[in-house]
Amino acid sequence: MSLLTSLARIWLTRSFHPFVFTNELDEHLPYENASGLGLYIHIPFCRSLCAFCPYCKVKYDPTQAQAYVEALKREIEIVGSRGGRRNVTTLYFGGGSPALLAKEIGGIVDMVNRYFDIEEGIGIELHPADVTVEKLRILKDAGVTRISIGIQSFDEDTLQILGRGGCYPAALSDALKQVHFETVAMDFIFALPGQTVESLIQDIENAFSIGANHVALYPFIDFTYTKREFPKMPESQKRKLFDGITEHCRRQGYVRDSIWTYAKPGTKKYSSMTRDNFLGFGCSSTSLLNDRFTINTFSIPDYIMRVKEGRLPTSLTLHFTERQRMLYYLFWTAYTTVIDEDAFKDFFGKSIGDFYHIELLACRLLGLVKKHGTQYRMTQRGAYYYHRYENYYTLAYIDQMWDLMKNEAFPERLVIR
Ligand SMILES: C[S@@+](CC[C@H](N)C(=O)[O-])C[C@H]1O[C@@H](n2cnc3c(N)ncnc32)[C@H](O)[C@@H]1O
Ligand code: SF4
Repeated sequence: MSLLTSLARIWLTRSFHPFVFTNELDEHLPYENASGLGLYIHIPFCRSLCAFCPYCKVKYDPTQAQAYVEALKREIEIVGSRGGRRNVTTLYFGGGSPALLAKEIGGIVDMVNRYFDIEEGIGIELHPADVTVEKLRILKDAGVTRISIGIQSFDEDTLQILGRGGCYPAALSDALKQVHFETVAMDFIFALPGQTVESLIQDIENAFSIGANHVALYPFIDFTYTKREFPKMPESQKRKLFDGITEHCRRQGYVRDSIWTYAKPGTKKYSSMTRDNFLGFGCSSTSLLNDRFTINTFSIPDYIMRVKEGRLPTSLTLHFTERQRMLYYLFWTAYTTVIDEDAFKDFFGKSIGDFYHIELLACRLLGLVKKHGTQYRMTQRGAYYYHRYENYYTLAYIDQMWDLMKNEAFPERLVIR
């Protein structure tokens, strides 16, 4: 599995140079010249911990959460005061379950507003238990314009397989009618035992009927350090589900804005992932600033301590070669199902054809993409293979990195081949 990703990396970067992360510590994140900059803030607290979930999170403790919020504000201040004021596209809060700290979100946004002008809105991930009129109002007053609710499934048996409590559509619908947001996304997981194309279509349609205008259906990812207490779905069955969902959404006229997400026409998408550059705050957050990629420590106590000392909580840093940065750009842009020649040229100042002519031609010949003007648009066949490769990539890269980061606050080095 990782042999496949290694060979792909060697070929696509035309180099044997692996991804090398080191523990160098810069006291400034140079975001001044990073175009299309987005912001992300991680809140690592949950009421209870789901066995399948890979993210950096701990059980909520009010004293620790309070210290964490103070540290977050301090980190934003350290970074913002050194870099100066500038515009950013969006701000997303993820977790964890950030709305456990709903009353603190306004104060954190105020700190962000001191240094950044947010142009397109603020998004937040919500656990269904946080979707109450009271919390939604607090979040809206804090400036939140987009929400994403982690439903996972409306089916009780599927929720039980995931070890999640019940989700009450009538209560969600009622709250969403009373407090309006421009984007209401709902997240589902597919490829779980017993799921069929019909049951997933029912999930999608239920979501739209109770107030969603955007849905995400993520394939279940079996991280090595999380627990899976159910059998894996065979690949052929997964493909049937993936193609069935896509076909249903196409027939209904929903807009596919990424491999796994669909929206009602005219909806602003909920996506914290596909940014050209981003600054992340909080434990486990990453920042991508042109050729520099950094990861904050995953340890909450170490995060708080570092920031209190007035230092950045960066744990590992990677400097991309030009080809590595192109590969990263193409991988995440392909996630939107469209790669645009002009956007590539704007970003790198170089033509995509000069670097990836053979690969693009091969993708066209294999029926994975079609060319429309300056755009390479993924076909459904291409979307399926991307979806499969993404799974390999997640296990070969993210799983390896997160596994290390969960066990060591400040590792010396990480080499991913
Ligand atoms: C940070 S989590 C969820 C937010 C919120 N805490 C909740 O549980 O509803 C973001 C989303 O990642 C997805 N997710 C989590 N673990 C996953 C896994 N192992 N495979 C695929 N998707 C996963 C879920 O759809 C989840 O809603
Ligand atoms: S799925 Fe949500 S509630 Fe469950 S552990 Fe992950 S972040 Fe927390």
